[in-house]
Amino acid sequence: QPLLRPLYRADQVRELDRRTIAAGIEGFALMQRAAAAAWQSLTSRWPGVRRLTVLCGGGNNGGDGHVLAALAAAAGLDVQRIVLKKTETLEGDAARAAEMATAAGVGVVDWQPGLNLTGEVVVDALLGTGLGGEARGAFREAIEAVNASGLPVLAIDIPSGLAADTGAELGLAVRATRTVTFIADKIGLHTGRAPALAGEVHFRALGVDAAAHHDLVPAAWLLDSALLPAMLPPRRRDAHKGDMGHLLVLGGAPGFGGAALLAGGAAARLGAGKISLATAPEHVTACLMHRPEVMVHGMRGAADLGDLPARVDIVVAGPGLGQGPWGQGMMQAALGAKRPLVVDADGLNLLASRWTGERRDDWILTPHPGEAGRLLGIGAAEVEADRPAAARELQRRRGGVVVLKGAGSLVVGPEGMVVCPYGNPGMASGGMGDVLSGILGALLAQGIGLEDAARLGVLVHAMAGDLAARDGGERGLLAADLASYARRLVNPGIN
Ligand code: APR
Repeated sequence: QPLLRPLYRADQVRELDRRTIAAGIEGFALMQRAAAAAWQSLTSRWPGVRRLTVLCGGGNNGGDGHVLAALAAAAGLDVQRIVLKKTETLEGDAARAAEMATAAGVGVVDWQPGLNLTGEVVVDALLGTGLGGEARGAFREAIEAVNASGLPVLAIDIPSGLAADTGAELGLAVRATRTVTFIADKIGLHTGRAPALAGEVHFRALGVDAAAHHDLVPAAWLLDSALLPAMLPPRRRDAHKGDMGHLLVLGGAPGFGGAALLAGGAAARLGAGKISLATAPEHVTACLMHRPEVMVHGMRGAADLGDLPARVDIVVAGPGLGQGPWGQGMMQAALGAKRPLVVDADGLNLLASRWTGERRDDWILTPHPGEAGRLLGIGAAEVEADRPAAARELQRRRGGVVVLKGAGSLVVGPEGMVVCPYGNPGMASGGMGDVLSGILGALLAQGIGLEDAARLGVLVHAMAGDLAARDGGERGLLAADLASYARRLVNPGIN
C-alpha cells in the first residue's frame, strides 16, 4: 500500500512527536516548523489577506497559533490574537510561543462572549489532538463565534472539537475552510463529520517520516483517485462473456422493484459478463424494458430459483429484498449458493435478525450506520461516535470485508482499513447503495479479489458521484446517473 497515504490516531502522532524530539529536534523548533507551514498554507490559500484573527487555546495547538500570529505580524498583517487561557498561566513551549508573539508586537485579548472577530480570515488554534471531550464554556462559545462569523477559517492541525481518532464531532466543532495538519495525517480528518468540518485537508510532514517507524502501524490508509488505473485488471483481447462472470442479483420483493434493477443496471455498466436478476414477477416487464441486457426472472418465491444460484459466480443479495417470507427465502438461497456474496440493505437486516451467527470470509457487507448498528446491537449514533471501531468490530464478528457507508466510507478487511475521501451530499438519496452493491458484484464477477473489489468499488462509486455532481449539481442527483460515470472511470483511457 505504498501509494496510499497512511492515517494515524492521535496517540500515534504524539508518539511520533516524542520520538522526533528525542532524536534531537527541540519541541519548540517543531512548533516553529508547524507554524511556518501553517503560515505558508494560509498565504497560499488567501494570498492578499491583510487582517487576521487567531484564537489560541492553552495547549500546544494554541502555541502553534501564537507563533503563527508572530509570523503574520512580522509579515505586516494586522493580527487580532484572542486567548482562551491567560498567557501568563501558559507553560512550556506554549508559553514561549505566546511571548514570541507578544515580542513581535501582537496584542492579546482575553476571550469574552460577544467579542467581534475582526479579521478577514480566522485561524482556529483552540484545541488540537489533545482534545479531551466536549468543548464547554468559553471554548464552546468561541467555537460558536468562529462558525457564526461567516469568515473563512484555517484550522491548525484539526478543527477544534473534531475527534482525531474517529471523525466524530464532540459537542460542537469549528467548521473550517481548510485544515493544515502536521507530522502525520489523522483518520479523524477524513470520515464521519470530517468532510463537513475540516474543509480541504493540507498535510505537512514537517520533516518527520512517519512511515519509517514500522512499529506504528497506520490506523488506516486514504484512497486516492490516482490509484484507479492500477487497480483495474486489463480486459483480455480474446475475452468472452463467460470470462467476465455471471452475477445474480436477488432482490425486488413485491412492491420494491427499483432497487434490484438499479443494482443490476449498474453491474451491467461496470462490465459484468452476464447478469441475472431474480425479482418478484410483477417487476419483470418494467425491468426488461429498462435494461434488456439483464436476464430478468420472475420469482414467486425462492423455490422458483431452481439451480440458478448454483450456475452463477457471484451473488448480490439485498436491494429491495424486504424482510418478509419472500426476502427470507431469497436470503436463504443466497447463503446456500456457496458463492462470494455482496450483502446490502434488507439482506443485512436479515443477518441482524435471523442469521445472527452467520460468518463468512467470502462476503462483502455494505451497511450504512443504521444497518451496522443493528448488526452490532447498538444505535446508529453509537456507530457514528466511532466509525472506525464499529467497522473493525463488525468485520471481526462477521468476517469478509465490511464497507461502512456514509461520508468518508470505510472499507475494512484482512489487509486493514481504507478511507474513501470522495463523494458528496448529492449522494444522500435513495438507490445509491443499490448502485454500490451492483458495482461491487460486477467487479467480483470480473475476478477481482474481495478486498480489492471493495476498495475499488467504493472509490469508483464515490468518484462517479463527484463527476455526476460536477456535471449537473448535487441536488437532484439520481442513483441511476452514476452508472455512466462509473463506466468512464473503469475505462481509464476514455475521457
Ligand atoms: N475543552 C477545553 N479545554 C480542553 C478540552 C476541552 N474539551 N480538551 C482539552 N483541553 C485542554 C487541555 O486541558 C490542554 O490544556 O486543551 C489543552 C490541550 O489541547 P491541545 O493543544 O490540543 O493539546 P496538546 O497535546 O498540548 O497539543 C497538541 O499541538 O503539536 C501541536 O497542533 C498540534 O494538535 C497538536 C497539538
